[in-house]
Amino acid sequence: MDLLLAALFCTSIVGLSTAKPTVNCSSTFPSTKLSPNYNETIAHAIHSMTVEGLKLFNIKASEINFVPTVNQDVFSDKPVLEHAPKDGFGNDFHTSTMNVIDRILSTLGNSKDGLGPHWSAIERVAHVFHMQDLWERIKATEWPNVLKTPPSDEVCTCLSSVDFNGIKDAVGWVANHYKTGTPITLLNRPIPKLTDATAWSVWKNRLLHYYTPEAMRDAANYLYCVSKFW
Ligand SMILES: *[C@@H]1O[C@H](CO)[C@@H](O)[C@H](O)[C@H]1NC(C)=O
Ligand SMILES: *[C@@H]1O[C@H](CO)[C@@H](O)[C@H](O)[C@H]1NC(C)=O
Repeated sequence: MDLLLAALFCTSIVGLSTAKPTVNCSSTFPSTKLSPNYNETIAHAIHSMTVEGLKLFNIKASEINFVPTVNQDVFSDKPVLEHAPKDGFGNDFHTSTMNVIDRILSTLGNSKDGLGPHWSAIERVAHVFHMQDLWERIKATEWPNVLKTPPSDEVCTCLSSVDFNGIKDAVGWVANHYKTGTPITLLNRPIPKLTDATAWSVWKNRLLHYYTPEAMRDAANYLYCVSKFW
């Protein structure tokens, strides 16, 4: 184990000088069965993560959580934050759904809600509830399996090393693309404005892209690993 960790840290140092991902958790730990594109499945699951979302998985989650997210202010000099922030939902209304809508509409136009200037009101609504839906799905499907058969410490070291394993870069990809559009997947495919049922059928298909068991398992493993640092 010590040797393996040393190897990871060595590649990490090389990573610092080249600024390229140097640790590939999927090929280094094949028995964990991470997807080859775990950088994308995990970045998709966490890019707009919140403290409240993390508490679904471990009640100990706080504002120091080591989960990289897109900066709410996408034009900031620091496009990716080190920690997922609080969701900022209020309680003026009675149900959580209405309070989420209130929050989305109250920040409309200032483009500082983590999505940049290109999303319409309804696209913002779809995005927020899609992410909540995905987190709940991860918790309901692959999370129990990960708790039953947890990843090893070595896998967790690898998955948590987001500066070197490609995950933070992939969150950065999302941040960067929010400056110019409304990407739903990390596959760089054009998407229509969400104005009618035909457009929604494209959106729906894209939104469901990372709902596969493999993508859920990647995210569940990552969340399990990072939660060990809380
Ligand atoms: C990890 O390595 C596999 C096999 O070489 C490759 O297909 C995959 O793209 C790599 N993934 C990452 C995130 O580097
Ligand atoms: C994910 O990793 C693969 C393999 O290294 C790379 O080709 C791809 O560009 C990465 N995706 C993102 C969004 O960073």
